[in-house]
Amino acid sequence: MIGGHRFLYGGDYNPEQWPEPVWTDDVARMREAGVTTATVGVFSWADLQPRQGAFEFGWLDRVLDLLHAGGIGVDLATATASPPPWAGTGHPDLYAVDERGARYWHGSRQHYAPTSVRYRRLAAELVHAMAERYVDHPAVQMWHVNNEYGCHVALDHSASAERAFREWLQDRYLTIGGLNDAWGTSFWSQRYGTFDEVTTPRHAPYSRNPAQVLDFRRFSSDALLECYLAERDVLRAAGAIQPITTNFIGFNKNVDYRTWAPEIDVVSDDCYPDPAHPDGYRHGAFERDLVRGLSPDRPWLLMEQASSAVNWRPRNAPKSPGQMAAWSMQSIARGADGILFFQWRQSRAGAEKFHSAMLPHAGTGTRTWREVCALGARLRELPALPAAAPAPVALVHEWENWWALEGTDHPADLDHQQVLTAWHLATQDEHLACDVTGAAGPFGDRRVVLAPALYLLRAEAAAALVAFVTAGGTLVLTSFSDVVDECDRLREGGFLTQLRDIAGIEVLEHAGVPDDAARAVGQLDLTLGGIVEDVEAREATVLARFTDGPYAGGPALTRKTHASGGSVVYAAGQLDRASARAVLQLVVPQDARDPDFEGLPEDVEAVRRGGVVFVVNHAAHPVHVRVGGTDLDLESQEVAVLDGTRRV
Ligand code: GLA
Repeated sequence: MIGGHRFLYGGDYNPEQWPEPVWTDDVARMREAGVTTATVGVFSWADLQPRQGAFEFGWLDRVLDLLHAGGIGVDLATATASPPPWAGTGHPDLYAVDERGARYWHGSRQHYAPTSVRYRRLAAELVHAMAERYVDHPAVQMWHVNNEYGCHVALDHSASAERAFREWLQDRYLTIGGLNDAWGTSFWSQRYGTFDEVTTPRHAPYSRNPAQVLDFRRFSSDALLECYLAERDVLRAAGAIQPITTNFIGFNKNVDYRTWAPEIDVVSDDCYPDPAHPDGYRHGAFERDLVRGLSPDRPWLLMEQASSAVNWRPRNAPKSPGQMAAWSMQSIARGADGILFFQWRQSRAGAEKFHSAMLPHAGTGTRTWREVCALGARLRELPALPAAAPAPVALVHEWENWWALEGTDHPADLDHQQVLTAWHLATQDEHLACDVTGAAGPFGDRRVVLAPALYLLRAEAAAALVAFVTAGGTLVLTSFSDVVDECDRLREGGFLTQLRDIAGIEVLEHAGVPDDAARAVGQLDLTLGGIVEDVEAREATVLARFTDGPYAGGPALTRKTHASGGSVVYAAGQLDRASARAVLQLVVPQDARDPDFEGLPEDVEAVRRGGVVFVVNHAAHPVHVRVGGTDLDLESQEVAVLDGTRRV
């Protein structure tokens, strides 16, 4: 609980974009809307420090005092996501550089090189000055470090990045021989004589060394984490006792949030599913499960969402009536303890003037404003909720697997997000609760672990998966799993070397095929594609065989059942959503399903959090449903919150 509120409600507040008299109106309107929390200062560096060494905190003092007097708590941002023009002028080393050596300049945001000594020093000075001034301010309830690390620029090739990359590699491999071995540099005459010869994977004539690219991804995520930790440590050293967060952006390929989450007091996420996409709410559900899984025992915060349209898609659809509240309640159901927006008042100038806000340009006579006020009131009515209980089904998501899987020169290009989304959507189609976890677990009492396309599989993770099956769990694997080690090298003995025994099969060869290219029939009828495999079923039962494609007649789906009752189901291709659903129907035991959610229509989402059930009608039409003995008539986008049989 932050600031004494069961649920935080509010958004980014950028008062520096407005004349001071507007601020008083802002606070009055925030109170009207039920706002508890304003995130202040995210992009205020230039206003807080117009010149090096010259801080101007007077305006921020007045903003914080005004908010506090109005009973609004502050999530105070450290303002380091967009260094002002003076910081880089004459100091090109502050800027990030792309793979062709072209510099990013100021005039947008996030143009800094994460490893730049100047950037880090200036950021630390600013954060120190802010902390000294505000750690004890009664309005400050949380600190918000930087903003969306790695959202725009994460892979920096500046000179400072190159130096830091070499040091990172030296720490990892100790000797240049160790690096050569790990990167397989005997191939194409890439052998390095010293660490000084190693570069970031710059623009190159043809395919780059995949292990180098993979390490550069790891290094780049770590370099950003160092920025976060440095700011956090400055805040703590100055006496900050409030929780500290930095806002994640769900499926952000650039940052391995699983390594970050333990360093963060409250995990927070910015989530912008497309309201025009028929699966928009399902994409939202997947992201919320991912974020919840990063700190499973603690609630998280939806730090940013849009009240209606964004500005950055080619076509920006507004949210339909009720959709904003429905998607907000989905977040609460899936573990959030706060709903916040980008942003409070719509900007008059700048790149985001057409991005929706809680208080739109057209003012308080708008549907958006009415819905914002209604949601604030509704959140006040909700009972306190515990962190969500572990789900019986888990879906494995690993950042380093994502990086390696999407490397070049594979039998086919697989889209990691697409592969996993088919599975998560299938769990939603089945109304199954699903956690998103790392490959090494812990898997606890889970019944089914879904691990599609787990191409890079570390020994520890393989051992955890084997232990899960040995203890009676069901593991579902799909093609192109357990192929390489953490350096993107094949292990001795071919494919599936670590999971071969528990799967009871041999993978002989891969074939790249179009998505949905191969059919299979048998106990299940399936559509497979992407990478299909020539599989030999040794100790496994063949549940379906390919009817076409390069391996027609061969096993497409196998199952090996163990004495423990555990089993491994292996699909020799990537499955589409309907086929994934068919596999779930086969493997998820009845007692792992929520009996209250049986028979619900597809567009009705039902989620249990503690003793409370959230039922959301995402369909465009009204529905009648029965959940746990309670009859519900729900309009489109209506949300029922059931505490037992009582609707709250
Ligand atoms: C991100 C950023 C915000 C804003 C929104 C627009 O979430 O953090 O500053 O740019 O996107 O959707």
